[in-house]
Amino acid sequence: MEHKELGLLAIKAKEKSVPTYSNFHVGAALLTEEGKTYLAGNIETSSYSLTICAERNAIFQAITAGERKFSAIAIASDTPGYCPPCGACRQVILDLCGDIDVVMINGKNEILVKKAAELLPLAFGNKDLV
Ligand code: THU
Repeated sequence: MEHKELGLLAIKAKEKSVPTYSNFHVGAALLTEEGKTYLAGNIETSSYSLTICAERNAIFQAITAGERKFSAIAIASDTPGYCPPCGACRQVILDLCGDIDVVMINGKNEILVKKAAELLPLAFGNKDLV
């Protein structure tokens, strides 16, 4: 699947968002190596810090469904600019998906693609637990 197409799915995934407190809709579309996609939005609770970002929601759903190999994740928000993944999501993307393509799509449907490792230099990981 093309990055642009995955980005458009991330825009669609915003419909799954439940941003009760921030009203900031984020959508994520995660692509497996076999071509399956998992769509999710951010979900907020009254205990704000228990919010789950769209990216982590999509990744945890995919992992729970048994997926282990991924090729890209796309992220979209309602702002005109790109929505870069937060720090926590960068850790989770790199740890659970590997050095995949992170596709950000803006309000003009333009895309910006970065590698997960590029977004989290000197990352802590499994290799550091020994
Ligand atoms: N959010 C995401 O879902 N992904 C990001 O990468 C950035 C932030 C959500 C969390 C919260 O629900 C809202 O956006 C505002 O921070």
